[in-house]
Amino acid sequence: MKLLKKIILTVVVVFVAMQFFSPTKNITAGKHTEAFIKQTNPSTELKSLFETSCYDCHSNNTEYPWYNNIAPISFLLADHVKEGKEHLNFSEWENYSLDKKDHLLGEIEEEVVNGNMPLSQYTLFHKNTELTANEVNKLVEWVRQTRIIYQLGKQPK
Ligand code: HEC
Repeated sequence: MKLLKKIILTVVVVFVAMQFFSPTKNITAGKHTEAFIKQTNPSTELKSLFETSCYDCHSNNTEYPWYNNIAPISFLLADHVKEGKEHLNFSEWENYSLDKKDHLLGEIEEEVVNGNMPLSQYTLFHKNTELTANEVNKLVEWVRQTRIIYQLGKQPK
């Protein structure tokens, strides 16, 4: 019994102490994905799909839920954002090479068709972020059209 009390006390102390620490937030004011939108020209529907379902982890601006103020959730979220941005960052689109853009578009198609993205841990807590079959089809259509443009750009003149 004494041991159990000690364990509980330790857990409480660690939890409280944790609250004094928070990871740096991923926040950018203004139009951080303008270059991506301009270059790839998604429909209004797809544009808002990226905003609601992808930008939180794949851009330089995350809209944080209230529970992000609680550690260790804040650290888990920060980790997702960091890792997501390392793979694909829509705010950095203009700095990617043609090859990389083309490759990433292929990856986007693969991930959404397979239902891997957005991450299920995310759609569980964020309403209406899961993609419908219709949205996936439209996204795939956009990927294919955009890739043709990039592939034409890669051909020798
Ligand atoms: C909750 C955060 C989160 C959301 C929301 C999210 N992703 Fe991801 N995404 C990640 C993480 C983390 C990785 C890297 C690890 C992995 O592949 O699971 C990743 C990887 C990817 C990759 C793989 C890139 C590569 O190089 O292999 C693509 C493509 C991708 N995401 C597209 C999307 C798209 C499109 C959306 C929106 C429909 C989306 N993601 C929404 C977190 C997220």
